Amino acid sequence: MADNSNTTMTRRCLQFITLALIPLLLLLNGCSKQGGDTIKIGEFASLTGKEATFGISSHEGTLMAIEEINAAGGVLGKKLELLTEDTQSKPGEPATVVNKLISRDGVVGILGEVVSSRSLEAAPICQQNKIPMVSPSSTNPKVTEVGDYIFRVCFIDPFQGTVMANFATKSLKATKVAVFTDVKSDYSKGLAKFFKEQFVKNGGQIVTELDFNGGDKDFKAQLTAIKGANPDGVFIPGYYTDAALIAIQAKQLGLNVPLFGGDGWESEKLTEIGKESVEGHYFSTHYSPEVGSEMSKQFVENYRKRWNGKNPDALAACGYDSAIVLIDAIKRAGTTDGPKVRDALAATKDFNAVTGIITINAQRDATKSAVILQVKDGKFKYLETVSP
Ligand code: PHE
Repeated sequence: MADNSNTTMTRRCLQFITLALIPLLLLLNGCSKQGGDTIKIGEFASLTGKEATFGISSHEGTLMAIEEINAAGGVLGKKLELLTEDTQSKPGEPATVVNKLISRDGVVGILGEVVSSRSLEAAPICQQNKIPMVSPSSTNPKVTEVGDYIFRVCFIDPFQGTVMANFATKSLKATKVAVFTDVKSDYSKGLAKFFKEQFVKNGGQIVTELDFNGGDKDFKAQLTAIKGANPDGVFIPGYYTDAALIAIQAKQLGLNVPLFGGDGWESEKLTEIGKESVEGHYFSTHYSPEVGSEMSKQFVENYRKRWNGKNPDALAACGYDSAIVLIDAIKRAGTTDGPKVRDALAATKDFNAVTGIITINAQRDATKSAVILQVKDGKFKYLETVSP
């Protein structure tokens, strides 16, 4: 009898403790997600794989911005914590890592990706969770069309395509152009389309259109067909590894016309791989350290100090800008609450950034100038700025 009541007592005690612990655990979990002593910002970037230099540069700019803001006291009385995940330049990874950043780490905003297809994969997850996402440099229009929580701090490809079509017509005096598109990439397909529309409007002719798959190694069959069409220039809206290999093989086949592309060419690997085969060719991008404001000059100086003498590229500058735009919105919102930060982001106006003055338009894109660069002596030489 005595034994029995003891057991009942113990059981009741245990039940009581368990019931009391549940809210405590829930509270602690909630604290670690929102109420902790730092504000958690997520970043997803291709730190490895075939577009590794994109993610590395973008991350270096982003991290530097976060460090500067922390050194100046942080935001809303708290320090920022940047949680960075590697997408490995692979489809499938963006969804996995962004889910983790939101559900496990409890980030209040997401920065990334560079590559449009990977931003497109992650955007619906941010949208469903009401976590604002700011892409530093994805230029395909579809990215911000995913929903009202998705922003970018760069121009979009209808503009970039127009810029390069006008450059081909006016500066290169090209009238017959071939277009060589990476069909695995939303960016490439979009940019090819917008380029063609404007080039034809300019009175130019697209003499042939061929496809490749990002990551291919042999482009000779398509390049032979392109050569046969006798173009006076080839537009290659791809990423740097493919563009460099294409330039090498074009030269081997005696296809000696100007090659040109968009921001996807921008990497020190373009010249490292392509060497003399990429000399003299052209691409458009978001930023050149050779031109720009006082803020841009300061950025170049600080970046070189922070990253062992390395010069910033457009990706680093866009990464930096994505972070300062998001943090400025958190500051103006006065809270890290998703819907309020979203509203503040949408209201971004005349914001001074490294790549230019940023105003977020009704489509949640930034309207900004592009620069055209030429590969000269293994470096990228600034040619001109084109305003929208
Ligand atoms: N704009 C490219 C895309 O949308 C990515 C990119 C940005 C590449 C800037 C290089 C420099 O996929």
